[in-house]
Amino acid sequence: MSASYEFLLLDVADRVATVTINRPDKLNALNAAVIAELDRMFTALAADTGVGAIILTGAGRAFVAGADIVEVAAGAASPAGLEAIAAFGSAVFTRIERLNKPVIAAVNGFALGGGCELALACHVRIASTQAKFGLPETKLGLIPGYGGTQRLPRLVGQGRALELIFTGDMVDAQRAVAIGLANSVVEPPLLLEAARALALAACKNGPLALAHAITAVTQGADLSMDAALALEAQHFGAVGRTADVREGTTAFLEKRAATFRGD
Ligand code: COA
Repeated sequence: MSASYEFLLLDVADRVATVTINRPDKLNALNAAVIAELDRMFTALAADTGVGAIILTGAGRAFVAGADIVEVAAGAASPAGLEAIAAFGSAVFTRIERLNKPVIAAVNGFALGGGCELALACHVRIASTQAKFGLPETKLGLIPGYGGTQRLPRLVGQGRALELIFTGDMVDAQRAVAIGLANSVVEPPLLLEAARALALAACKNGPLALAHAITAVTQGADLSMDAALALEAQHFGAVGRTADVREGTTAFLEKRAATFRGD
């Protein structure tokens, strides 16, 4: 991937891409340029058959400390208001959520506001003991605008989500795990290793199966149970027509490891 990025670092090893948001002097706050780079990076990684899973993390002491408040203040004062800012960030986060390969947030520090919402758009969240999650927008007279009012209640329940939104308070990693906001918590030096172990485990499995599973889970969540089960059946049928399913089942019966080609 030759394109250059001002605010993102990329490392690819063993089909696992690690994307690091690198604006540590502003605690990786999301200005429009960072969000546009995330969009470009994830679009490129989605198309890269050499990448099977993606880890997203932050440089320094934050994962992401939110939308860039300088831009939010300017947006609130502009004729277009904040709608354009929310629409852009929200669309990018939704594209990340709907990506065709697993996206794991390795939450190394503050995941506040838009940073918490970015972690919520990832498929799995692994936290270090230094992580702090929160939606502090109401402290600024705002509400979450990058999906937080929708993804957080779906993940932790309305009561817990509204408690976080009402107070704007941060919760630590242990509490985040207890309420289902984070999957697990590890000591800081083990964070990337833990995320990588999960990514590598996913990379062993059928890439088309992973992509269909992501679609069934993320899009099924917004449907009635009957419609969601029909969506699952449709994707079950679609993977059934792949060479990967023939390889996976044959390898099992032949008592060998499967080699998936993603076709
Ligand atoms: N937007 C823009 N800049 C931000 C930012 C944000 N969301 N979060 C932090 N920064 C900047 C600070 O302005 C500061 O810049 P400066 O050194 O040029 O003054 C730098 O990052 C370091 O932050 P600082 O506040 O000095 O660190 P701290 O350790 O005292 O506090 C936080 C850390 C996360 C508690 C605090 O930065 C904070 O509350 N940030 C805003 C969180 C928020 O409301 N996010 C939702 C936005 S909608």
